[in-house]
Amino acid sequence: MTATDPAQAAHRTAAEFRALYGTEPTGIWAAPGRVNLIGEHTDYNDGFVMPLALPHTTLAAAAPRTDGVLRLHSAGAPGGIVELRPEDLRPRPGADWSAYPAGVVWAMREAGLPVGGADLHVTSTVPLGAGLSSSAALEVATALALDALHGLGLSREELARLAQRAENAYVGVPCGIMDQTAAACCTAGHALFLDTRDLTQRQVAFDAAAHGLRLLVVDTRVRHQLGDGAYAQRRAGCERAARALGVRALRDVPHAHLPDALAALAGEPGLRPLVRHIVTENHRVEQAVAHLDAGRPHALGPLLTASHASLRDDFAVSCPELDLAADTADAAGALGARMTGGGFGGSALVLVEEAAAATVAKAVDAAFAAAGYTAPRIFPAVPGPGARRLTP
Ligand code: GLA
Repeated sequence: MTATDPAQAAHRTAAEFRALYGTEPTGIWAAPGRVNLIGEHTDYNDGFVMPLALPHTTLAAAAPRTDGVLRLHSAGAPGGIVELRPEDLRPRPGADWSAYPAGVVWAMREAGLPVGGADLHVTSTVPLGAGLSSSAALEVATALALDALHGLGLSREELARLAQRAENAYVGVPCGIMDQTAAACCTAGHALFLDTRDLTQRQVAFDAAAHGLRLLVVDTRVRHQLGDGAYAQRRAGCERAARALGVRALRDVPHAHLPDALAALAGEPGLRPLVRHIVTENHRVEQAVAHLDAGRPHALGPLLTASHASLRDDFAVSCPELDLAADTADAAGALGARMTGGGFGGSALVLVEEAAAATVAKAVDAAFAAAGYTAPRIFPAVPGPGARRLTP
C-alpha cells in the first residue's frame, strides 16, 4: 500500500462510485492516517499528544438519497454493498468495516443531527491494523462527507468527537480522542500539539528534511487489535489510579509531584508503573514541543527512546517485534526510536540523520529476517494534510 497521488485516487474513486451506484458522487472527501510522534496512551488521561498526518489517505465518495436508505461500499472489503436504514442502526460491537461509517451516522443522529440516506463508497491507502489509524481515517472521511451532504456546519473538533463516539459506543473500541482529532485537524508540514482535555491545539512546524533528518515508519506487520481487552485494562488502571490519587485524570499529576504520587500508591504496586508512564510521557511531549519550537528536532531522539522504554517496561504495551525494531534502529545509529500507537503490534517510528537512514532501515530488515519475523514495511513519513474535500 502506497500513498498515491490524491487527484488520481479521487478520479478512480469517483469512477468506482459511478459504476456501483449509477450516479455522480456529490463530492469526494479525504482523511489521512496518522503517526504519533510522541504522547502515547496519554489521550484517555486528558494528556498531551503530538501526531502528524501521513500521506496515506481514506477517500469517501458520497451522494445523498431521498428514500432514506444508507448504502455503504468499500473497495477493500469483500461482501459488496451494505444496505441499512439510519433509523434502525443499533450499536454492534465487533462488526465488520461497515460499522465505522454506520457508527458515524448513528452518532450524528444520537446527537440530534438530521442525517438521512446516502450512498457512500470508500477507498483507502492507509494500512489496516498497522497502528496508523485506518479506523479514524474512515470515520472522519465519512463524517466530513455527511457534514457536507447534510449541511451540518460542524467544526473539526465536533467531527472528531462524533467519530470517537462512533468508535467507542457503536463499534465498541474504548479509544481516546487522538486519532480522530489527528485525522480531522492535522495540517501539512506540522505535528499537532493537542491537549486532549479540551482539544486546544497548536500546529508545530516539523520539517525533518530541512534539518537533514528523516522520520521512518516501521510497520512490523504484527496486526494489533485494540478491542481485545489489554487496552481497556490499561485505561481502567489509569482511571483507578486517578481516583486513588484524588485527581480528575492522571494529567493532573504534575511531573514534579511524581515521587509523591508513587509514594501515595505504595499499596497499589500494579498502578504505580501506569502512573509513572503517563506522568513522564506528558512531560516528554512538553519537552518535545519546546525542542521543535526552538528548531532542535535532533533533540527529539532521546525522548523517543525514553518513551519506548517507558511503554515497554512501565506500561507494558510493546511486543518483541516493536522492541526489535526500536532497539535495532537505535543500535544502528538512529537518533531515537519508539513504538507508536496503541502497541501490541503495529508500527514503530525512527528519527534518523538522512545519511544514516538507509543503513538503519537495512539493519532493521536484517534483524527481522534473522529473528524469522515477516519482513517489515519501512517508509518515510512527511506530515501531510488533514481531512479535506478533494472534489469538486
Ligand atoms: C490508539 C487509540 C488512541 C490512543 C493510542 C495510544 O491509537 O485509538 O486513542 O490511546 O492508541 O496512544
